[in-house]
Amino acid sequence: MKKVIHIVGARPNFMKVAPIHRAIAARTPFQQVLIHTGQHYDVKMSDVFFSDLGLPAPDVHLGIGSGSHAQQTARMMMELERVFQEHKPDLVSVVGDVNSTVAAAMVTSKLAIPLAHVEAGLRSHSRHQPEEINRVVTDRLSDLLLTPSRDADANLLKEGAEPARIHLVGNVMIDSLLASKAKAEQLPVLRTLDLAPRGYAVCTLHRPSNVDDPKVLGGLLSAVSHVASRLPVVFPVHPRTRKMISELRLSADFERNPNLRAVDPMGYLEFLALTSQARLILTDSGGLQEETTALGVPCLTLREQTERPITVDEGTNEVVGVDPERIRLAADRVLDGHGKTGRVPEFWDGRASERIADVFLRFLEGEQGALRVASA
Ligand code: UD1
Repeated sequence: MKKVIHIVGARPNFMKVAPIHRAIAARTPFQQVLIHTGQHYDVKMSDVFFSDLGLPAPDVHLGIGSGSHAQQTARMMMELERVFQEHKPDLVSVVGDVNSTVAAAMVTSKLAIPLAHVEAGLRSHSRHQPEEINRVVTDRLSDLLLTPSRDADANLLKEGAEPARIHLVGNVMIDSLLASKAKAEQLPVLRTLDLAPRGYAVCTLHRPSNVDDPKVLGGLLSAVSHVASRLPVVFPVHPRTRKMISELRLSADFERNPNLRAVDPMGYLEFLALTSQARLILTDSGGLQEETTALGVPCLTLREQTERPITVDEGTNEVVGVDPERIRLAADRVLDGHGKTGRVPEFWDGRASERIADVFLRFLEGEQGALRVASA
């Protein structure tokens, strides 16, 4: 029986792999092995997602943990090489752009195992972003490039990828969102936090370029405080951001302003309950830009560029950078009733995982030879 290995490691991976795992189980005869690198290890950054998403417990847990990018990636590669040699997969599937993704991609292709990249082709065109390097390297090595939108196809073609490798399948993260939204909205999250539907904003920040530089982080928090002068802002704080806020003694901002509510990172369902009923989201996350577009909730992206331009061209996203004054003005516009409405992009329909399973099936049961010859 053909064997597919899935790699997960960090928080944004889990909601992408869960529907793929389910679709493969339902539509193909393949054996599936789930490997968790352990890049994220806190219960609230990892474990809770397995139960929330119905993802089976990992077959292999590498327990790699944190470190510099080189240390973390190298440790993952050493362990993954050993595991791949033992399991001998027919295909390795990686998702997104985190360090676990690129580590697995490099080991897979050096062992001459076919590699599939889900969420291929996204580009911010900024090499200052570690994820951009991970995307470029992973795509270059992948046999199957499964893309969420046509702009991703165009990026890959411009870089010289063979058209036969590119498969427009849509946005798999939206499969999880649509499958979970009704269940999430039953949770008493708003009641517990004493919030009214559309009566609050949500903020998340964790990009090193935003949270590691005291001046940038201070400016962002001042803009978020302004928003909190108009309505409650729920701020689930990533461990990296929490560390910086405490090191830089910026927690006074929170203490002064009871409307600015710092909480621990949330599970998938709890957070979806919060985002789906928010009036405004401020974020530097990639995934949240897409989720807000699917939910029709206005999003201000606190970065200078996005690798997900379709969320701006078609969705509810506006890229506003990190200048506090610009963020304040943009937030006021949304809160005064002039937020973007937008539409849901093509193939963000909850069925991307089925299309992915179909591509894997065709690849492993016949077209693999043809594809390899075509790309030789
Ligand atoms: C990683 C991804 C990023 C993704 C983000 C989602 C890379 C290069 N970055 O960033 O693309 O958007 O995950 O969260 O892969 N930490 C904990 N507990 C954890 C995990 C991390 O305390 O469970 C702390 C550690 O101090 C660690 C730091 O957060 O050093 C950063 O973790 P790391 O996995 O290196 O990157 P993220 O910032 O989480």
